[in-house]
Amino acid sequence: MIGFAFVVSCFILVTNASILTDGSLLPLDQPLIRNLTWKDVNFLHTTDTHGWYSGHLNQKQYSANWGDFVSFAAHMRQIAHGQGQDLLLVDSGDRHDGNGLSDITTPNGLKSTPIFIKQSYDILTIGNHELYLLENSVMEYETVVRHFQDKYVCSNVEFKLDNGTFVPFGSKYRYFETPVQRKRVLAFGFLFDFKRFNSGTKVTPIAEEMAKKWFAETLRRYQGLVDLIIIAGHTPIAHDWPEFYALHGHLRRYYPDTIIQYFGGHSHIRDFTVFDDKATGIQSGRYCETVGWVSIDMEEQKQQELSVKERFSRSYIDFNLDSFHKHTNTSASTFDTPSGKQVTELIVKTRKELKLNKLIGTVNTNYYVDYVPEDHPKSIFNLLCNKVLPTLPGSGERLIVINTGSIRYDLYKGPYTVDSMYIVCPFENRWVNLTVPKSVASKVAQKLNDASYIATTSRLKPPQQYLNKFLVSKSVSDHGFSQTPFSLGDNLGQRLSKGYVTHDDFGSGGDDTLHRAVVNFKVPNVVQSVQFEDEVDSNVDLVFYEFITPNILWALKELDYKLDNVVPDVYSNIYLGALLNEKIKHSSL
Ligand SMILES: *[C@@H]1O[C@H](CO)[C@@H](O)[C@H](O)[C@H]1NC(C)=O
Ligand SMILES: *[C@@H]1O[C@H](CO)[C@@H](O)[C@H](O)[C@H]1NC(C)=O
Ligand SMILES: *[C@@H]1O[C@H](CO)[C@@H](O)[C@H](O)[C@H]1NC(C)=O
Ligand SMILES: *[C@@H]1O[C@H](CO)[C@@H](O)[C@H](O)[C@H]1NC(C)=O
Ligand SMILES: [Zn+2]
Ligand SMILES: [Zn+2]
Repeated sequence: MIGFAFVVSCFILVTNASILTDGSLLPLDQPLIRNLTWKDVNFLHTTDTHGWYSGHLNQKQYSANWGDFVSFAAHMRQIAHGQGQDLLLVDSGDRHDGNGLSDITTPNGLKSTPIFIKQSYDILTIGNHELYLLENSVMEYETVVRHFQDKYVCSNVEFKLDNGTFVPFGSKYRYFETPVQRKRVLAFGFLFDFKRFNSGTKVTPIAEEMAKKWFAETLRRYQGLVDLIIIAGHTPIAHDWPEFYALHGHLRRYYPDTIIQYFGGHSHIRDFTVFDDKATGIQSGRYCETVGWVSIDMEEQKQQELSVKERFSRSYIDFNLDSFHKHTNTSASTFDTPSGKQVTELIVKTRKELKLNKLIGTVNTNYYVDYVPEDHPKSIFNLLCNKVLPTLPGSGERLIVINTGSIRYDLYKGPYTVDSMYIVCPFENRWVNLTVPKSVASKVAQKLNDASYIATTSRLKPPQQYLNKFLVSKSVSDHGFSQTPFSLGDNLGQRLSKGYVTHDDFGSGGDDTLHRAVVNFKVPNVVQSVQFEDEVDSNVDLVFYEFITPNILWALKELDYKLDNVVPDVYSNIYLGALLNEKIKHSSL
């Protein structure tokens, strides 16, 4: 129901087609991109890039690549310096798992990491995706840490050297002066309380790390010598995620009055939160869809204390050339820098080498994870259940259950290549089966989608579904809300592309580009493909991914179905991604 209230409120916010939410007038022949606000110290922030350095090839809105981002940052730095201001770049981790460029190689990230490090970050830190596999952690240490040295800041995650000694990834903190304004910065990097790190690494929960002696000593040593504290973390900044707020309380005991800026990540959303009058946090989305922007007025001597909205400004920049050109006052002919161009060339060369552009087929329309309800013709789950899962080899009547988290991203209209499978459906899950009566099989999905079960399980749904406060349930949409929840005045509404309309602690004017809001529908834990021939309650095969076996067994038990210690048989080793490839190769979807 929160979603409902939110939808109604954005109706009110955008009623007059010619007025931006910041009150400025928008001439109708201008691109619909809001200006950034520059202040003493300005930041560009990325997080959860997950290997999307080629850009979104089938989505114009996010089609800039990492080379363009390198050019963009160079121009932005130049503009800042020309105005006597600073520009700092921050990244909050999770740099693989999400895209063919990173995931087609072994180890994963082998070819994408050298592309990532071409951006000139001032502070960066680690994400949980750098810590699942030892080979990824070794690569992180040997490539990214080695390249950035003490700019890689990691306060609560360590790496085990060959001789068994644990050392920080990079440095535990960084103390430096900004190049232009000479502001003294103390920076830390904190990963959320992540438990599934590999044995060559160690994550200490933030609460435990901040109680350690080194932290108290460091905070004490710089008292009186710090203008700005930066926390780069792979940790959500949302108010209902307590870790940064506990850290903040602790920091305020040593630095009651110092400006603090948090840079968060992990939950894959755009967000901005106010910690107190002198501290805010930004989170800059996911998958190279967003460059986050924060600017801070460092002034201490004003007659009156600045309000938090006067001191801080934030924007979410769409990752495309229209935005990049606009904010740098450049055009296609003046935008590319030599190093940006080199990075673009490296991406082209790498994609070729990895054969990522190899065409499998063409997709004729968009299929969404959660922009439509799961039974909508444009739902990717609808597509899978009706057209793809029936192609899983096997015979007889059956019901196939998949968890919605097995789909990673929307499937967009356009060329479908080797890369696309990694984007949409990369997981290598094999299938298992149990033979049960039809009447039992057909109730399993419903059990797993009970509201109470959804609340207690994680991992079955896509990650962006867990911390999104603004999910809309299908019943709301059935009561008259279409996918665009408000009708903008004729002219303007038509010109806007669908995209983020972010609601954060500063309001709803943060997205640099005006969008028609997309609605994110709640997706269930699982969806099912029912392949029955009649109504007779005969035995059928209940087919599912091996890794959701505990969930399926739980549901059967709840349904009072006795299994007598039967274990599922292996049903097929043909992954869902392979089925999707075959389907797209042989038919037009
Ligand atoms: C945006 O910036 C441009 C260039 O600095 C300026 O000419 C224009 O007036 C600004 N628009 C608004 C609404 O502030
Ligand atoms: C392990 O190696 C590191 C780096 O060479 C060194 O600093 C450390 O003292 C060594 N530790 C032990 C226990 O040998
Ligand atoms: C943008 O660039 C053009 C041409 O390069 C220049 O004439 C103009 O003054 C610039 N505008 C701003 C706001 O810097
Ligand atoms: C799996 O399906 C096969 C074929 O229908 C069936 O013979 C077998 O008993 C099933 N496995 C289990 C554990 O029920
Ligand atoms: Zn992530
Ligand atoms: Zn993460």
